[in-house]
Amino acid sequence: MTDFATDRLLLFGATGDLSRRKLLPSLCALCADGLLPEDLAIIGTARSDLDDAGFRDMARKALEEFLPAERRGSMATFLNRLSYQTLDASTLEGFDALAAKVAEAGAGGAEGGIAIFLSTAPSLFGPTIAGLEHAGLTGDKVRMCLEKPLGTDLASSAEINDAVAAAFPEERIFRIDHYLGKETVQNLLALRFANILFEPIWNSNVIEHVQITVAETVGLEGRTFYDEAGALRDMVQNHMLQLLALVAMEPPTSFDATAVRDEKVKVLRALRPTSASETVTGQYRAGAVNGGAVPGYDEELGSASTTETFAAIKAHVDNWRWKGVPFYLRTGKRLPERVTEILVQFRSVPHSIFEGSHAAGSAGLQPNKLLIGIQPEENITLSLMAKVPGLDEDGVRLREVPLEIAMPDAFAEGQRRIAYERLLLDLIKGDQTLFVRRDEVEAQWEWVDSIRAEWDTHGVTPKPYTAGSWGPNAAIALTERDGVSWHE
Ligand code: BG6
Repeated sequence: MTDFATDRLLLFGATGDLSRRKLLPSLCALCADGLLPEDLAIIGTARSDLDDAGFRDMARKALEEFLPAERRGSMATFLNRLSYQTLDASTLEGFDALAAKVAEAGAGGAEGGIAIFLSTAPSLFGPTIAGLEHAGLTGDKVRMCLEKPLGTDLASSAEINDAVAAAFPEERIFRIDHYLGKETVQNLLALRFANILFEPIWNSNVIEHVQITVAETVGLEGRTFYDEAGALRDMVQNHMLQLLALVAMEPPTSFDATAVRDEKVKVLRALRPTSASETVTGQYRAGAVNGGAVPGYDEELGSASTTETFAAIKAHVDNWRWKGVPFYLRTGKRLPERVTEILVQFRSVPHSIFEGSHAAGSAGLQPNKLLIGIQPEENITLSLMAKVPGLDEDGVRLREVPLEIAMPDAFAEGQRRIAYERLLLDLIKGDQTLFVRRDEVEAQWEWVDSIRAEWDTHGVTPKPYTAGSWGPNAAIALTERDGVSWHE
């Protein structure tokens, strides 16, 4: 943890979509809750030609649209923290004016630190770093936060990482994966490492397989740049692999940035290159989602495309703990519901004393499972077997009963927060635990690149699926041939 107080937050891409939908609302909510440093000034910068008043006006509209009224607090107090500098990041000159604006905003004098949040097109990363260096904005008290996409493969990601590393040491670089800011994702660590129950059974002796699903109902939503990414790069490379790493990692020695990330990276490096036959890709066609008709991907995009909007992968973690335990990953757009969940399927009991005791031949014994709901519902359900009440004249009958913890009920006092609130606060404080280290990103890309290479070798193109369905039938076949059904 780099130890200095931050009195300025500099937002690149301040008029963009992420800023309006997530960053400004998160900052305003933190401000309303009294969680931002008293003197923190927020300087926005982008190409748009605005002055301070114009930026504040834009921010106010964004807050009214994207932050519930009860979380806004005094908007005027928050808006007063904002100022703005127009900048064409592709030229060095503009950075002098930006540096002057940043200096003017600082309350902490020479002691004050700066957090820079880069949410711009990756093509601007290099020029922006050069501009910051030119203007003296890369000193010891500056932290750099980067939003994805950080490249499209290992080589381009390494190029970006090299450019950033030339100006900032790793302990001052904060790579966002906003899934790590989600409360239930962090709760995975609490579940695994704050309870003695799970760790002894958290391995291939007792766990049969794991499923991770990140399903979305939204489609392209005008984000035409998605077409250059596709589901594998957009969702699997980052969010899903981070979830997998948290499920599969060894216990870290402490909840600290180095210990946690050291363990995650070991898992990511243990991912076995997946063959094309263990993957399924799809692209949605016109259909219906949430009762409304929706167009197909190519219609939304306005041209034909071979980009996958769905991916299902049977992944393997090659280490002692997970030997022979498949991790089935599935993500897609225009699926029937928005749900992110992790299912841990345990093995059957080694010998059932009940089978055969029931007249119908089967007492109904099912293997246990643990379902971790991340969104929209935040809940943890452990399915246990129980005896169906009765006199058992035909023999014992068993039924699965859920042991369920609904997080919002268990913690009524907890505030449901935007994932970026936590991450922005950690950036300001300098805590890297929930940010992704370079070696993690690169291990993620290495695995994803190996899959893409397989697809190229085998000429894999996405199979069509109807919007509102659970993806191509082949995704069902991927698990069914192992005798496994996707959890729905
Ligand atoms: C982003 C992806 O990283 O995550 C989007 O680029 C996706 O395509 C989004 O829609 C999903 O985030 P969340 O928090 O809504 O699950």
